[in-house]
Amino acid sequence: MLNWKIVKTETIQAVKALSGGIELPGDKSISHRYAMFAALAEGTSELRNFAAARDCHSTLGCMKALGAGVKVEGSKVQVTGHGLRGLKSSWRMLDAQNSGTTIRLLSGILSGQTFTTKITGDASLQKRPMKRVMTPLREMGADIRGRDENFPPLEIRGGNLRAIQYQMPMASAQVKSAVLLAGLYAEGETAVIEPAPTRDHTELALLEFGAPVRKQGRTISILGLGAGGNSAPLQPISADVPGDLSSAVFFIAAASLLPESNVYIANVGLNPTRSAILDFFQQMGAAISVVNLQTKHGELVGDLAVKGARLKGGVVSGDSVALLIDELPMLAALAPYTDQGIEIRDAGELRVKESDRIAALSENLKRMGASVEERPDGLKVSPGNLHGAGIDPRGDHRIAMAFAVAGLGASGETKILDAECAGVSYPTFFQELRRLAQ
Ligand code: S3P
Repeated sequence: MLNWKIVKTETIQAVKALSGGIELPGDKSISHRYAMFAALAEGTSELRNFAAARDCHSTLGCMKALGAGVKVEGSKVQVTGHGLRGLKSSWRMLDAQNSGTTIRLLSGILSGQTFTTKITGDASLQKRPMKRVMTPLREMGADIRGRDENFPPLEIRGGNLRAIQYQMPMASAQVKSAVLLAGLYAEGETAVIEPAPTRDHTELALLEFGAPVRKQGRTISILGLGAGGNSAPLQPISADVPGDLSSAVFFIAAASLLPESNVYIANVGLNPTRSAILDFFQQMGAAISVVNLQTKHGELVGDLAVKGARLKGGVVSGDSVALLIDELPMLAALAPYTDQGIEIRDAGELRVKESDRIAALSENLKRMGASVEERPDGLKVSPGNLHGAGIDPRGDHRIAMAFAVAGLGASGETKILDAECAGVSYPTFFQELRRLAQ
């Protein structure tokens, strides 16, 4: 049988400015975690401004298949859990689709269950490395198999976990979270030691749901359910998910790039383990003010006012890479418009994201006439004028959106092929961009 897919192209032309107000869909990382932990709590959680991202709806689909109640009304989602021991085995293979966060975090939860689960994803996810979670989860006692010992589909037989002290070889919030979530079910206290700070939404959300998580320096620990451990159930929550800063970044970049811009982005998540991108923009000379700061459910939230500015450019390397990882495609695509260009180092991880992002950025930037030096662990993009071109985002949402922004400052037309892939994190991105463009 032929498998038809509608491929939608979006055409972008140069505009003078971006102006107006925008509210973003809920943060993807937080939505995944709230959906999973609500499914482990006892009772019904109400999650408002839940991410529209297809990835988070993949998580909801998996939790439903595992026995949680899931009711979706627009961006309001109710998830009913039956306790930490309340998940049921799914008769069908779970499908994480394009979502690395879904499969990796769920691997931790499924390692604690006394049944066997199979989980897979789309063609992109089936190429992404899972050994990074398989290794520590096996050490805890889970039986996990994957294709070629590294790739989905995964088969996970859980139960009887022991606590470990895990010195994480890479700075990854997904790996940290998988181990902590398995740790919820283990006997004793599980600890993860991070080589560099990564986003801490798992820790903050677990605390909100009432789980015993502690943080001391680079070590995060959790007390497990196992013999002699914590037996308190997780409590449901009623929460508003803050807007997604990683989605805001496309509008911050576009507004900065176009001198007469004036954009107000309300209710954005500004968790310090995510906001390094704002510091980077400010160091480049961007005109961003942060107002109405407040803390909601442990997460810092605020509004951003962004105006057009001349950007200097700069270098991203070392520990800051993990804190900026999802924003690097936008920085690379913006680089030609900066005074000195942008260099990205120590970011080999970009090659195993939804696409090989280093290759996708280099190829598409060159199509638009940029001067790019591609390296194994990053790229150096020089300043220069861009012209419109056909962009192949390789099915990767962040590549599609980054080049739509690059197209706003280029001469001629930029055509984003398969633009619909933006829906993995931001289904209404192109409508919103058109609404603000002048
Ligand atoms: C995420 C962590 C990051 C990030 C991804 C979302 C999360 O991945 O790139 O988009 O929600 O934990 P790694 O932890 O693999 O770096």
